[in-house]
Amino acid sequence: MTQNHLRLGVNIDHVATVRNARGGAYPDPIRAAKLAEEAGADGITAHLREDRRHITDADIDGLMEALTVPLNFEMAATEEMQKIALRHKPHAVCIVPEKREERTTEGGLEVAREENRLAHYIAPLRDAGCRVSIFIAADQKQIEAAHRIGAEVIELHTGAYCDFHAEGKFAERDRELKALREMSAFAHSLGLEVHAGHGLTYDTVQPVAAFPEVRELNIGHFLIGEAIFRGLVPAVQEMRRLMDEARG
Ligand code: PXP
Repeated sequence: MTQNHLRLGVNIDHVATVRNARGGAYPDPIRAAKLAEEAGADGITAHLREDRRHITDADIDGLMEALTVPLNFEMAATEEMQKIALRHKPHAVCIVPEKREERTTEGGLEVAREENRLAHYIAPLRDAGCRVSIFIAADQKQIEAAHRIGAEVIELHTGAYCDFHAEGKFAERDRELKALREMSAFAHSLGLEVHAGHGLTYDTVQPVAAFPEVRELNIGHFLIGEAIFRGLVPAVQEMRRLMDEARG
């Protein structure tokens, strides 16, 4: 892979959402992960939420066993999740904020105010060989704090950019995009690896994919929805194509 290759992490959480709506065994998120691999995903992302509303502990066991590409394990900074991560030692751990009442991860992690606790929290994960990523807003103060606590990677939250696009608020969208671009460059200048994700679609992916400092995008909800219409493999392949096109 060249330095210019932008990795695609496919988030399979919402295959589990559909499965759990009926409480049975299908659709199977592990099968979806294998298909995403086949379609060109460079990694699989799964968020084990505290309330287990989609991905379950058994899904994480299954993914660790079945995947040939790296697993990016998203989790809140709780003691329970740290234990699970240390047992599995996935390739990457992405620390996300989590509120029970939210429908999805609404904002970035507040790193600056919790620097001490988070520095101690991520140290054993790093020592176990996991690449620790912190999911944050495009905010210089948070990026500096993520750097100070010893994170190797930050993932920038693209949710506001995508929401403004969907609502037709193009001035606000462009302001968000500018912040994402500037903060990608800033984080890179500190030596952090830069990822981005949340809410990305075929319509919104290319401007973010074009940032040269971004090394990975994590995309889930839109792809799983699109799979209903065109199948998972073509849905992932089209995202891959758009990312490659944006990268030139
Ligand atoms: N990145 C992170 C850190 C996330 O928490 C999520 C959602 O679980 C995603 C990316 C993917 O977002 P979406 O499902 O909206 O594409």
